[in-house]
Amino acid sequence: MIYLDNAATSFPKPENVYRVMDDCMRNYCANPGRAGHKMALDAGRGIHKTRELICKLFNIDNPMQIVFTSNATDSLNLAIKGSLKPGDHVITTSMEHNSMIRPIKELEKIGVRNTIVMCDQQGKLDVNKIRKAIRRNTKMIAMTHASNVTGTIMPIEEVGKIAKERRLIFLVDAAQSAGVYKIDVEQMGIDLLAVPGHKGLMGPQGTGILYIAEGLKLRQLKEGGTGSKSELLTQPDIIPDRYESGTPNTPGIIGLGAGIEFVLNEGIEKIQKHEKELTAYMLEELKKIDEIKIYGPQNEEEQASVISINIIGEDSSEISYILDKEFDIGVRSGLHCAPLAHQTGGTLEPGTVRFSLGYFNTKEDVEKAIQALKKICKEMVSDK
Ligand SMILES: Cc1ncc(COP(=O)(O)O)c(C=O)c1O
Repeated sequence: MIYLDNAATSFPKPENVYRVMDDCMRNYCANPGRAGHKMALDAGRGIHKTRELICKLFNIDNPMQIVFTSNATDSLNLAIKGSLKPGDHVITTSMEHNSMIRPIKELEKIGVRNTIVMCDQQGKLDVNKIRKAIRRNTKMIAMTHASNVTGTIMPIEEVGKIAKERRLIFLVDAAQSAGVYKIDVEQMGIDLLAVPGHKGLMGPQGTGILYIAEGLKLRQLKEGGTGSKSELLTQPDIIPDRYESGTPNTPGIIGLGAGIEFVLNEGIEKIQKHEKELTAYMLEELKKIDEIKIYGPQNEEEQASVISINIIGEDSSEISYILDKEFDIGVRSGLHCAPLAHQTGGTLEPGTVRFSLGYFNTKEDVEKAIQALKKICKEMVSDK
């Protein structure tokens, strides 16, 4: 299959991810941080190595500020519900994924207020609107780095400056940017960074990360065994243990480490350049097809490698079905778990056909997708 659904999860993974996970499962997959035997120590070392690699990638000083979760949704829930209390106010944008919007909406039930700043039709954010939305009780600005519907890249550094000036917690959802765009938590003023391990970081599903800046103390969302302070009947205060109860996903985290090592070895600039070239080529070719409407910035400098389109007058799920069945091309259609982003871009009713390109895609993959779309357009027109 030509896999063009990397915004959902990346595929394939670098070879070493498969290799280290297999090695861990077969040879040392004991429970890390619990026992003192060799296998448990090896598992613990493997997990710590991944924390250190994450620090290197995002310019984080202390590996203990990294919390492992099961996906970006889990990280966002901990960041949002762990930080906000009744009476607080949070600012977010209309381009957010449900993993951001739903926890924020859920907190309305306990009296946490929110303002959703509207972006323009291409998903672009006017940072002045963020500034204007700040109230006396605002505690947090929470937003995505890149839209999963239109790819639109958000002005994270500018918003980070506003958050610092006004002493607000700045939460960034890096689900569509980590591994492809430079993220420096210091330079960008990020206090909480939510990242899936299974997309641009090339790790397996079931892995996620939450970076918590030093000095920030969140309410944990679960209590249980941590392997530390076992004499206590209450949750230990030390981090990351405070937030990491239960046996971790050891093979997954070790696989994630191999994925991040791959990203670091290739280099963010090289990965980004490749994805930008593919995005530019796909946009250029799509613009030549009259029947196709493209959403978002339509410019590789302003969007990640996520391209949403429709064939005018046709159902998006029908198009993705034909791409899969007749052309062996995997894409996603409909609404992409971000209803407000669709409303912002005017695609709530039809949804979109979303092509999301990854580092392992080639120009030939894009070419085949373009040829397939041309054929579908031709057949649909002749059927009418
Ligand atoms: C922008 C954005 N945020 C959050 C998520 C949720 O990620 P996960 O599936 O790892 O929970 C996604 C998933 O597609 C996403 O695109």
